[in-house]
Amino acid sequence: MSRQIKILDTTLRDGEQTPGVNLNLHEKLEIARQLAKLGVDVIEAGFAIASPGDFEGVKAVAESVKGVRVSSLCRSVEKDIDRGWEAVRGAENPMLHTFIATSEIHLRHKLKMSEEEVLERAVAMVRYAKKLCGEIEFSAEDASRTRPEFLYKVFEAVIKAGATVINVPDTVGYSTPAEFGKLIKGIRENVSNIDKVDLSVHCHNDLGLAVANTLSAMENGATQLECTVNGLGERAGNAAIEEIVMGINTRKNFYGVSHNIDTTQIYRTSKLVSSLTGVIVQPNKAIVGANAFAHESGIHQHGVLADKSTYEIMTPESIGLAQNRMVLGKHSGRHAFEDRLKEMGYTLGADEINKAFEMFKNLADKKKNVTDRDIEALIEEKVSEVPEIFELESFQISSGNKVVSTAAVSLRKNDSVITEAATGDGPVDAAFNAMERAVGISFELESYGLNAVTEGKDALGEVTVRISKDSKVFLGRGVSTDIIEASVKAYLNAINRAISEIGEGIIIKN
Ligand code: KIV
Ligand code: ZN
Repeated sequence: MSRQIKILDTTLRDGEQTPGVNLNLHEKLEIARQLAKLGVDVIEAGFAIASPGDFEGVKAVAESVKGVRVSSLCRSVEKDIDRGWEAVRGAENPMLHTFIATSEIHLRHKLKMSEEEVLERAVAMVRYAKKLCGEIEFSAEDASRTRPEFLYKVFEAVIKAGATVINVPDTVGYSTPAEFGKLIKGIRENVSNIDKVDLSVHCHNDLGLAVANTLSAMENGATQLECTVNGLGERAGNAAIEEIVMGINTRKNFYGVSHNIDTTQIYRTSKLVSSLTGVIVQPNKAIVGANAFAHESGIHQHGVLADKSTYEIMTPESIGLAQNRMVLGKHSGRHAFEDRLKEMGYTLGADEINKAFEMFKNLADKKKNVTDRDIEALIEEKVSEVPEIFELESFQISSGNKVVSTAAVSLRKNDSVITEAATGDGPVDAAFNAMERAVGISFELESYGLNAVTEGKDALGEVTVRISKDSKVFLGRGVSTDIIEASVKAYLNAINRAISEIGEGIIIKN
């Protein structure tokens, strides 16, 4: 029988530490539910003490996502552990994850502690956490730059104190596959009680080696792999779950291990995370990039037509990427639409189906053939559930290469409609300025991204904006066949998110 590997997903914790990413409670829950469907063994749902939002996120995931272990990160301090426990205690299967740095660099410059003090703190905090929770993960931060003999000593002691998972992070993505594999082998050989616990690894991607290091660790005895969807995470990110899992599956004979992941949920998970975080997946990204299964050169196309195995080492279907079917048109009925949603794996309530059908009909009026990708984009636009404090009534733009761009935008708030006009550097800027006047708040535009959902002139454009107010960043997303409309919707989505998070006090008029 093959060795069973556990997968810990930290998209909601390390992944949420990606610069510019800030998920609301609803979005965290949506991602957690999808991770459970994907089949991860553990969801690290956040760092409960970091902020009230983090705490509520971990608690909500713990209380409502079943069939998976839910963990909160805590420093090796009592107040962190107490807060973490408060957040995860409602889970079917809770876990506390406590960490302290062990490398000489961190001890000297960050903690200002000796090795003895770190060892003592690690043991005391694992003991403290163990009184609250049966499952305790202990991480030695910056393990890959730690003196191995000290690492062995710390691990042996925290296992005696009650840790059930020992994690070896390559915190700064410094290691190499051979070196990291050797470290894991060394831990297996030198920590006398290591067989009593799961040996986990957590690799960062600063040198582009996170997945390679993770797989090498697995070959050398790691039993749990920590990763994130699309490789999100601090700096260059973490090891990407989709690459690890498809590596294991595609090279089954080589690795000879099994896991609980349903690979057909990979594509859906990647799309959801990209859409809710606003972090676009690069087209040439392994497994989930738009080009991952595209064959451009004539020789390759010829080969694939003759036999897919010539240039495809895995099938698009294996990650749940069905062919982009030309599904429906404006004459398609509600039943056909609902059936297609089900086939695509969506389980929506009656209200959500009605809304989605209305959006589909509007789109079908503008676009001859509505494909699966279009439907995904429409549905994901609605997933974030930002309250529509201001709704778009209408907009009008005047623009050209010899005139100053002007925009008039009408927004509805409760029963009143507010109309404002403004000029700007181009139609999008003018529309954004008019909207700011209408809502009575000014924002900084941090980033603007435009992406075509499908090919063709009538493709849906997907706009992602990030705006900031008082150094807090808010994401907005909009889709439309008209890119100005997509931009206006995205900006309004971000404005509504800002108002709902900060409060209506930021509105200075209306
Ligand atoms: O990268 C790291 O060291 C971490 C630990 C807190 C597990 O994220
Ligand atoms: Zn990390």
